[in-house]
Amino acid sequence: MIDYDPFSDSVLEDPYPAYRELREHSPVHYLEKYDCWALARFDDIWRVSSDATRFSVRKGTSAPQLLSKVLPVFPNLNHVDPPQHTELRGDLWRFFTPRAVAVFEERLRPLTRERLEALRPAGGFDVMGDLAFPVSSRMACIMVGFPEEDADELVELVRRFFRREDDVKGMTEDGMAAYEEMNAYLQDLTRRRLASGDLSHSPVDTLIGRETLDGERPSVEVRGSHLMLMLLGSTETFPKTFANTLYRLAEHPDQRAEVVADLALVPHAYEEALRYDAPTQFLCRTTLCDVEIAGVSIREGRPLMMLFPSGNRDDREFADPDVFDIHRRAQRTLTFGSGIHRCMGVHFAKLEGRVLLEEMLQAYPDYEVDASGVDQERTEFVRGFSKLPIRFG
Ligand code: HEM
Repeated sequence: MIDYDPFSDSVLEDPYPAYRELREHSPVHYLEKYDCWALARFDDIWRVSSDATRFSVRKGTSAPQLLSKVLPVFPNLNHVDPPQHTELRGDLWRFFTPRAVAVFEERLRPLTRERLEALRPAGGFDVMGDLAFPVSSRMACIMVGFPEEDADELVELVRRFFRREDDVKGMTEDGMAAYEEMNAYLQDLTRRRLASGDLSHSPVDTLIGRETLDGERPSVEVRGSHLMLMLLGSTETFPKTFANTLYRLAEHPDQRAEVVADLALVPHAYEEALRYDAPTQFLCRTTLCDVEIAGVSIREGRPLMMLFPSGNRDDREFADPDVFDIHRRAQRTLTFGSGIHRCMGVHFAKLEGRVLLEEMLQAYPDYEVDASGVDQERTEFVRGFSKLPIRFG
């Protein structure tokens, strides 16, 4: 009998042994404590997240909504099903295409370079706090349409929302307070932008300016709530994936030397780190009818957790999945989900990954991780480093 609990100490410490057990012995696993099902194999997760006719997002997609039930299902793109989802996503997509995001490289590269040079005299820095968060939050604000000068304040709110405490399972009181502060900020921004009357230049403006949202004329609260996803989605995950890539390259000096010698390998190294250390541990769906998954019957109205990082280490999909290999050319992974809710920011994240890694590896090709200062976030949700100190010669 497997006792899998996403909030248990052992899973928070290292979820991969539990994921392996689940894949081998209970790939569609019932969690009595939360009255929900966890999917551990690549194919099952891929199919569920690609099937919006039988699996809904209406009741929320995260653990604080469906497992611990402390967070409301605030209206946003990730919480609507077709046909509303199709229409809303279609409206926003023009800002997220590879071509649309490519223009941001000319802001991102000098910003990254400047930051890297400013850090040189210190002989080392914290990848998360000194580089990844400051650069990527500023760029996310520019791209998504939040005021650039608010980037530091916003990223601090987002970090408080996602931060966990050792003796609290899941969302903390301070995280809920940060959620309320974000709501107040977003509603205030909505009012100011509505008053400006010029609402066509960014995803944020497009959301604020819509006549209808989710089929109805939206209040300021609903408009602000739709912005929340833009804020949470664009700021928290990328820094973790960037730091993971640097960490894995430091762990595999031969592969790092190859990438440094040939920067064309950077996107492959980033892609492999995305697969190997996917930050989003799971998102959920709710069954719209009775279903059968891998021979297991599940009733209508039940929540399902899709354990993305487990699927990314499934040997039914990947050869030697526990080996980090920049020469792997994975056809597909679950890091950004799949189907109609697949991450909108995927091309922007890949642009950021490529540019930050290219600049970092040119500036400090022989950086070393200072293991004594490394800190991991102990969270059931978006896993990764909270601190990754490095030194260079
Ligand atoms: C490496 C960084 C990122 C990772 C790992 C990531 C991960 C994900 C995942 C797993 C989903 C699927 C949600 C689901 O199936 O329910 C998602 C959705 C989404 N992401 Fe990202 N994300 C990243 C970066 C970004 C960025 C930079 C943005 C915005 C600029 C963004 C915006 C969104 C949005 C708007 C959705 C909702 C799409 C929908 O429901 O149709 N993400 N992301």
